[in-house]
Amino acid sequence: MRGTALVVGATGIIGSAVARRLIAEGWTVHGLARNPKSEIEGLLPVAADLLEPASLAAALADVAPAHVFLATWLRQATEAENCRVNGAMVKNLLDALSPKATVRHVALVTGLKHYLGPFEAYAKSGTLPETPLREAQPRLKLQNFYYAQEDEVLAAAARDGFAWSVHRPHTVIGKAVGNAMNLGTTLAVFASICKATGRPFQWPGSQAQWRGLSDVTDARVLAEQLVWAATTPAARNEAFNIVNGDVFRWSWLWPRLAGWFGIEAQGFDGTVHPLEAQMADCGPLWREIAAKHGLVESELDRLASPWHTDLDLGRPLEVMTDMANSRKRGFAGYRATEDSFLDLFALLRADRLIP
Ligand SMILES: NC(=O)c1ccc[n+]([C@@H]2O[C@H](COP(=O)([O-])OP(=O)(O)OC[C@H]3O[C@@H](n4cnc5c(N)ncnc54)[C@H](OP(=O)(O)O)[C@@H]3O)[C@@H](O)[C@H]2O)c1
Repeated sequence: MRGTALVVGATGIIGSAVARRLIAEGWTVHGLARNPKSEIEGLLPVAADLLEPASLAAALADVAPAHVFLATWLRQATEAENCRVNGAMVKNLLDALSPKATVRHVALVTGLKHYLGPFEAYAKSGTLPETPLREAQPRLKLQNFYYAQEDEVLAAAARDGFAWSVHRPHTVIGKAVGNAMNLGTTLAVFASICKATGRPFQWPGSQAQWRGLSDVTDARVLAEQLVWAATTPAARNEAFNIVNGDVFRWSWLWPRLAGWFGIEAQGFDGTVHPLEAQMADCGPLWREIAAKHGLVESELDRLASPWHTDLDLGRPLEVMTDMANSRKRGFAGYRATEDSFLDLFALLRADRLIP
């Protein structure tokens, strides 16, 4: 089944993957962002700010999607502000589309903070959930912008009569430049710096993350699930976790990532070594590396997000995710996690983002 889709956040790590998949399947795809300039061939750009309802309606004047994919957020200083701003972004978009009466399905991407709590209370003891994380677990009694966005989708679905799905990935592994959270590229840049300087590729996180089981979400498997849910009657009006389908330990993966770069890995040594500190002075160094190797992005901050990688790898518990709801309804998407990372590294090198 092919149709007309609107991908909101089309230049992000998730939105770009779903836009690529839809285009490859022959859909007509509009891609919305404030700056929708993208290398994706065939994507129809919609330049609009979700926080400006009047100009948003004007930008969408000629867009009549049946399927909407919401993969957008803007980080704010507090979770109260996150709820206000990110909830409004979803509401404004769905309000602007409502009079057209063309929308049949809205797929919203949130994530595991649904279970682990917002940034300001993220995986803090006292709110640690039971793992593997399951969709049926009740909401935490904490403010959370994911809940605000879900509530906006459910309210608009009740008003306008469209079907919905909610998608909760773990850490997303994929390509994006200038986006907010990108663990795969952060580690690729860190490894490239280690290689250039001879610094150790030192595990930055906690013992629980080093030793415990984990999983991640390849942006391509998430894109596959989004399109599946939007086109499968059995997936209507459901929330879905989405991970690769394998589990791993960082103690197993870390040396393999180092091996791809030809550097030596150093594992957990009893202390957390946050990447934010390890990479704090690396901006000028990255400019030198970029100049030496003819890279296309010399600003470290547009590639690496160590604050987010630290949050993820520093968690005090092992985190993995149950996929039964998808499997029971027929979704069989799978990626081997080592491939998710190594495919990304190869792509970053081919696109001259790392040496
Ligand atoms: N990245 C991860 O590892 C990860 C993991 C789990 C869950 N998630 C969740 O997935 C969702 C999507 O995140 P992401 O990581 O894909 O985001 P991202 O890579 O940072 O991309 C955000 C997208 O939204 C657009 N955008 C931001 N503000 C906008 C505005 N005011 N108006 C219009 N467009 C706007 C951005 O483009 P412009 O800046 O040009 O507007 C960009 O296209 C979030 O809820 C996030 O928490 C992410």
